[in-house]
Amino acid sequence: TKRVALLISGGGSNMVSLAQSMTGDHPARPALVVSNRPNAGGLAKAEEMGIDTALVDHRPFGQDRAAFERDLNRTLEQVDPDIICMAGFMRVLTPVFIDRWAGRMLNIHPSLLPKYRGLHTHARALEAGDAEHGCSVHEVTAELDGGPLLGQARIKVEDKDTPETLAARVLEWEHKLYPAVLRRFAEGDRSLLLMP
Ligand code: GAR
Repeated sequence: TKRVALLISGGGSNMVSLAQSMTGDHPARPALVVSNRPNAGGLAKAEEMGIDTALVDHRPFGQDRAAFERDLNRTLEQVDPDIICMAGFMRVLTPVFIDRWAGRMLNIHPSLLPKYRGLHTHARALEAGDAEHGCSVHEVTAELDGGPLLGQARIKVEDKDTPETLAARVLEWEHKLYPAVLRRFAEGDRSLLLMP
C-alpha cells in the first residue's frame, strides 16, 4: 500500500475528497496531513477522518525558505510518503525541496494549464473573456505550476459568472479530477486524463 502525504493551507476540501477516495481496493492510503497554517480548516477535517496531522508553520522562519523546508522534510520523512499531494498548499517550494521528492509530488491548480499559472486564476480567465476554464493536476517540478500534466477538467464559462461562481464550479470538478488522477498515479499510470 502506498502512503500519501497531503499538504494543505486552507479549507482542505480537495484533501477530504482525496482522503475519502483512498478506501477499498485503492492502492494508497492517507498517511499524514500537513498544514503550514495553524488555522487551516482542513486540519480539523483530517482529525475527524482519523488521519494524523502536523503543523509546520512557515511564519517563524520569515524569508528563510530553506529552514521552513528542512522542517517540512523532517515531518514528511517520519511517514516516508510514496506520494505527496499538494491540495490548496499556498507556499512556493524551492528546487531543493522539490528534488528531494522528485517524481512523487502532485499538485492541483485551478486553471487549464499552461494558462494562468500563479494566483487569481478565475478572475484572469474572466478578464480574458475565455469561453472555457477548469482545473489541472500536474506533477510538481521546479517550474511553478509547470510540471507534466496528468489530468484536466474543463467547464464552460457563463455570461453571468463571477470569479466566485466560477471558482465554485471548478472546485466541484477538482473533487472529481484529483482523486481520479491520484488513483491512476498510484497504479503507475502517468498518462493524461481528460474530464468530463
Ligand atoms: C483549490 O481551488 C485549489 O485548486 C487552489 O486552492 C483551492 C484550495 O481549496 N490551489 C491553488 O490555487 C494553488 N496555487 P481546498 O483547500 O478546499 O482544497
